[in-house]
Amino acid sequence: MTLTWLVLLGICFIWHMTDSQLVYKLNNIECLPNQSRVTNVSCKVKAVSWNMALVNMDCYLIFPINNPTIRVQVFMKDYSNQFKPFLIDATFKLCEVVERKSFLPYGVMIWELFKSFTNVKSCHFSPGQVSARNGYLNTSYVPPFPHGQYQITVMFSDSNSTHTESVGIVKFFLQAMDQIKSKKRPQGT
Ligand SMILES: *[C@@H]1O[C@H](CO)[C@@H](O)[C@H](O)[C@H]1NC(C)=O
Ligand SMILES: *[C@@H]1O[C@H](CO)[C@@H](O)[C@H](O)[C@H]1NC(C)=O
Ligand SMILES: *[C@@H]1O[C@H](CO)[C@@H](O)[C@H](O)[C@H]1NC(C)=O
Ligand SMILES: *[C@@H]1O[C@H](CO)[C@@H](O)[C@H](O)[C@H]1NC(C)=O
Repeated sequence: MTLTWLVLLGICFIWHMTDSQLVYKLNNIECLPNQSRVTNVSCKVKAVSWNMALVNMDCYLIFPINNPTIRVQVFMKDYSNQFKPFLIDATFKLCEVVERKSFLPYGVMIWELFKSFTNVKSCHFSPGQVSARNGYLNTSYVPPFPHGQYQITVMFSDSNSTHTESVGIVKFFLQAMDQIKSKKRPQGT
């Protein structure tokens, strides 16, 4: 734990000493639903400039998710081109975040992203269409990661007092890099 904080502090320190701006550019997304619970899945990334891409997702929930549990894990690609766990592995119940019984930063961040970019209004998901439109990760919400390739895995599950079932997994592939500045304004901004 102490080491984690030292690493994070070190990263912040180095980050603030450089004047180039860090951005997280989303390159790809993969959706792996539990097909017994979720159908009609579409997951797309659309690049709008050299530094930014937008996520659009649609799916149809066959069953309600009564007690959604979310696990967020971050992996970084190492020199051997394999994704290895990187600092963050957090699990939380979405309703505890929404009802302000939990203030886990990654939980709060995910709920903020849901509220900004999806049609989700409550932590109790009814059967029906769930959609995300033009979503992106605002760099100011995320700790500064070292430059490199990352995979962020978000696992959704549902549980009652006796059973836990997977609902689906979404994998985001992104690159932490210096902002590319161009003389011409990129299209779409
Ligand atoms: C499946 O998704 C497409 C577009 O994402 C939508 O037009 C269609 O109505 C959906 N079908 C069902 C059964 O939800
Ligand atoms: C990111 O969030 C900050 C603070 O909430 C806001 O000022 C900024 O405009 C946001 N950036 C983008 C690209 O939306
Ligand atoms: C929990 O969920 C399982 C599978 O959906 C179901 O069979 C079981 O009856 C549920 N148990 C309770 C206590 O609701
Ligand atoms: C997927 O959903 C079905 C139906 O609810 C359930 O029986 C199954 O256990 C789930 N799969 C996983 C890996 O949780």
